[in-house]
Amino acid sequence: MYQSKTVNKSTTLKISGDLKEIKDLYPAIFIIDEQVYRYHSHFIDQLVANRPVYILEASEKNKTLQELHKIMDFFICHQVNRSYWIIAIGGGITSDISGFAASIYKRGCRLCFIPTTFLGMIDAALGGKTGINFNNLKNMIGSFYPAEIVLIRKEFLTTLPACELINGWAEWIKIALIVGPELFNSISTEKIPVINEQIILSAAKAKLKICSDDPYDQGIRRLLNLGHTFAHLLETLSDNEIRHGEAVLFGIRCAAYLSSELGYLQQSELDRIISSLSEIHLLSKELDLISLLTAGNPAEILLQDKKIISDDNKLNLVLIKAIGNVFIAPGFTPEFIIDRLANFADKLSR
Ligand SMILES: NC(=O)c1ccc[n+]([C@@H]2O[C@H](COP(=O)([O-])OP(=O)(O)OC[C@H]3O[C@@H](n4cnc5c(N)ncnc54)[C@H](O)[C@@H]3O)[C@@H](O)[C@H]2O)c1
Repeated sequence: MYQSKTVNKSTTLKISGDLKEIKDLYPAIFIIDEQVYRYHSHFIDQLVANRPVYILEASEKNKTLQELHKIMDFFICHQVNRSYWIIAIGGGITSDISGFAASIYKRGCRLCFIPTTFLGMIDAALGGKTGINFNNLKNMIGSFYPAEIVLIRKEFLTTLPACELINGWAEWIKIALIVGPELFNSISTEKIPVINEQIILSAAKAKLKICSDDPYDQGIRRLLNLGHTFAHLLETLSDNEIRHGEAVLFGIRCAAYLSSELGYLQQSELDRIISSLSEIHLLSKELDLISLLTAGNPAEILLQDKKIISDDNKLNLVLIKAIGNVFIAPGFTPEFIIDRLANFADKLSR
């Protein structure tokens, strides 16, 4: 068991914990990913024990106000009050919308997450960010509302498609790069790393620690954006044809390359990072970065990323000095970044 405090609330992280504790959370109402329920109904039915269940079709198009409205109707219909536990079982879509519902319904109910994706276990269920999409913009509406209990059972991963695992690995590598060589090196020797409890717990604890040091995303937590500026750019330029995890892994490579170009990262460290990434980084589509950069309007896309813009309209980037030494570098123009990315793409294509 591991405890961490974020936004005035303690999160207790349990791995393979006693299920009786979940059965004992009363009164409670469940929000469950439809796919997860289909695959794991036997186990889930034991947990639910005849309490009300809202089945969610977990897709980005349902992470919306309309779905939230239905969840609120369901709560009202079951006379949920503030003493209720909202127990969400699913990946990041399920925890984001359920967490948001729990934070606003009657100004806040109790909240428990049982994440079922690798990404959920090490990232989305931890740290208190909740949210829904609005007008096709991701996570536009949300709150900071950490779950009091996060229960991890790696058995859920047995049914998770391989393409979903890569999303978790991308965030795992990012967290390991921030935390340091001990964590980072723990996977670099294996071809396809097996996800065990140690792998999950190490990254989950690190994420919780970063979030409890900076609950409202104003300082150190911004390091968690490592690779994401480039990832968002690639996702937008490719019309989301590149999957998020792949885009993040590619984005981390871009950040490492740029860090080396600017003289922050030694060649030997760059080589270590790139070779570890290539163990997992299998792009499903051949990425023609040069044509993406020249066909779209990358400068405009970069300038829309409010998270990374400073007062002088320049961009802050998360760069790498060494494994375990990641920092925010201010003052980049979009033109400079695009020029360097084109240079990187050129090297890749040779
Ligand atoms: N709040 C945060 O801090 C945070 C952090 C990262 C990502 N997110 C959000 O998380 C979402 C992505 O979440 P995700 O990658 O965890 O997955 P997800 O919730 O998007 O689910 C992906 C797919 O896997 C299915 N699935 C889930 N668990 C399964 C299982 N055990 N077996 C079989 N199928 C399963 C789902 O039904 C869905 O089809 C995005 O909306 C993103 O914005 C939030």
